[in-house]
Amino acid sequence: MKILRLSLLVLITFTCNNLVKAGTPDFIIECMDCHGKNGVSLEPDVPSIAGISANFIEETFAAYIYDLRNSVESKYRLGDTSRAPTDMKKIAKKLTEDQIIEAAKYFAAKPYVAAKQDFDKSLVDKGEKIHIRKCEKCHGNGGSSVEEDAAILAGQWTPYLRNAIKHIVDSTRDVDMEMIKKVEKLSDEEWEALLNFYASQQ
Ligand code: HEC
Ligand code: HEC
Repeated sequence: MKILRLSLLVLITFTCNNLVKAGTPDFIIECMDCHGKNGVSLEPDVPSIAGISANFIEETFAAYIYDLRNSVESKYRLGDTSRAPTDMKKIAKKLTEDQIIEAAKYFAAKPYVAAKQDFDKSLVDKGEKIHIRKCEKCHGNGGSSVEEDAAILAGQWTPYLRNAIKHIVDSTRDVDMEMIKKVEKLSDEEWEALLNFYASQQ
């Protein structure tokens, strides 16, 4: 009888542990407290991470960990919003390699949803022409492709992209050398046109 009770207890504990494991782990829920449900951001300064390449997410985390990419302090937008603000470097440094791989797989498998935002229609064609000439090679399909492990530009939040570009141009973010050659010569007007072209894809 004692043995039976003991094995029942073991069985129950085992089942409970597995049930907890079957849910979304806390470290992934924490991502969504800023990046939005399923990684679809409703916050213009936070990028959507749903549907982007798992490799890109893993490489981005490596860049944060090894200080090859700056990060911006951010408050939590969902869940317990009284938590102290943090940034991607701190977040990346507290995760294990397995957790980073799991988070990357999780968000890569979610469908990308373009941000609903305003844009200047009169600049879209000009932006598309510049994109095709200088960016399409790596940011395929108008900037919506995840091949080449580049970020998705089409439908990404403009305020986030504007800030990301600033960090790429002033070299506080290490990126592909071939890309730097293409982007450092762009004028402010060309950047505006590109941003409006990306925002127009909804
Ligand atoms: C406190 C808010 C916050 C939390 C929590 C958070 N992020 Fe971020 N994340 C940001 C902000 C803001 C940016 C953009 C600015 C920057 O690069 O620092 C960002 C940038 C990123 C980028 C770069 C995207 C790109 O297009 O270059 C990835 C990938 C990312 N986060 C993944 C995650 C994952 C995965 C988690 C959970 C393990 C997570 N983030 C948790 C706020 C957060
Ligand atoms: C040689 C390939 C290549 C070319 C050409 C290129 N890119 Fe990139 N781009 C990349 C890669 C790879 C990344 C991801 C790199 C990283 O975060 O370290 C990236 C990232 C970016 C990001 C950051 C997005 C984010 O969410 O973090 C922006 C913005 C960007 N590219 C804009 C452009 C624009 C605009 C052009 C054309 C003027 C361009 N790129 C041309 C390869 C390229």
